[in-house]
Amino acid sequence: MSDKPRILTGDTPTGSLHLGHWVGSVKRRVELQDSHDCYFILANMHAFTTRSDKPQEIRRDSIEIVRDYLAMGIDPAKATIFLQSEVPAIAELCFLFAMLLPFNRVMRNPTLKTEIELKGLGETYSFGFPLYAVGQTADILAFRPVGVPVGEDQVPHLELTREVARRFNQMYCKVDEHAKDEEHVALGGVFPVPRADVGKVGRLVGTDGVNKMSKSLGNAIFISDSPKEVQKKVNRIFTGRQSPTEPGDTGNALFQYVDAFITDEARVAELRDRYSRGDNIGDGHIKAEVAEAINAMLAPMRERRAQYEGRDDLILDILRDGCARANRTAEATLLKAKEAAGLGFWPRTLDLGAVRR
Ligand code: TRP
Repeated sequence: MSDKPRILTGDTPTGSLHLGHWVGSVKRRVELQDSHDCYFILANMHAFTTRSDKPQEIRRDSIEIVRDYLAMGIDPAKATIFLQSEVPAIAELCFLFAMLLPFNRVMRNPTLKTEIELKGLGETYSFGFPLYAVGQTADILAFRPVGVPVGEDQVPHLELTREVARRFNQMYCKVDEHAKDEEHVALGGVFPVPRADVGKVGRLVGTDGVNKMSKSLGNAIFISDSPKEVQKKVNRIFTGRQSPTEPGDTGNALFQYVDAFITDEARVAELRDRYSRGDNIGDGHIKAEVAEAINAMLAPMRERRAQYEGRDDLILDILRDGCARANRTAEATLLKAKEAAGLGFWPRTLDLGAVRR
């Protein structure tokens, strides 16, 4: 058992990871894995909320995302990467937690509402769709983390999670309703009330220069792109500037890339200065520097990725180990939660992922 503070975060597997994922979340995870006991969940059951007709695709995406994690430097010896579907305690906690939340409270979640709109789900979404928000509270609380590093869009889910933790502790563990969030565990609560750790970097604009980088919008640079592809895509970043002597707007999309990927700060300052004055510096020149910087960053990632190319067997080994570790933690939580909720009949013994085929 690690004595480092525990955190949990994760992704719904939707395909290859891109620079937006790196800037928005994965970079931070790589930094955190030394100082924290990290759990990274692949929410493959959540993927069924909108793609239940494509289970093979979800399976492939779940493996692919691990390949990208490893490429980006997440180290399975330090962090626990696991599949939501292989940790049964999560589903069991979800059922208990669903009873603690008024139906209308779940439906008021702005992230759910936006998703229903964006994906045009209208009145057609499944019963399971809103349930995923409750499921996410279980993904988190099953591991009793102190913090959850997420993007801004996930904050409503964290609010819901915090409410579930408080309610459970109050209802089943006699924690006073006026107790401070930080005191819940000391006062006998099963669950800490976890913080949302919202990073400051947030989002990277796509190569269209307008929208957030996203696979579905076709404006993404993938971790698995070749150096040539990277250069080609960077060249596409739209600025609207006409000539090297036109004073440029350093708030534009291209400069988001300059800031995110050129590591030499003096060089960044110089580029900003010359660009804003229109001091004979073309977009093409800056794009070449940006592409070079991105490719330099991606080089070790490409190397690591190559070791796992075509080696799903290695990925599955890593996941099996991660699930075994995740199950040990989640089962301990579930046992405590069931006891608190009057369901402590007898400890169960399940073989949770320790067996190798
Ligand atoms: N909903 C998150 C997303 O789509 C993924 C996710 C599932 C998650 N369970 C989680 C994130 C628990 C943090 C913690 O990005």
